[in-house]
Amino acid sequence: MVTVTFLTPPMREKIVVEVPDNARFTLLNLMKRFNLPKQCVCGEGRCGACAVKVVPMRSSAKMVNLNDVERRELFLAGKLTREESELAELKDIPPRWRLACQYIVADEPVLVAF
Ligand code: FES
Repeated sequence: MVTVTFLTPPMREKIVVEVPDNARFTLLNLMKRFNLPKQCVCGEGRCGACAVKVVPMRSSAKMVNLNDVERRELFLAGKLTREESELAELKDIPPRWRLACQYIVADEPVLVAF
């Protein structure tokens, strides 16, 4: 099981979700499943509306998996710098923002804020 904690100002309390190993949910799937309020338009990494901050809960997290579609859209939205992109690619350091429709919940516990 991996823990995903959601925190956003409209919610009075954080929501903690346990995701089974190998479930392969995107964050967007998870948010829809738990009726979390985030506007999303395309669901394909092309509008940027689903950008969320993702913070690893362990310092040794290795969870980047930033695909080209997500990288491009985050750049266009001003939520990914060239430096962050290089750190993700070369050193496996996760960027601050991710697209919920592209981010696959893996085996690292994370805090998601939006
Ligand atoms: S819903 Fe459009 S980029 Fe995620």
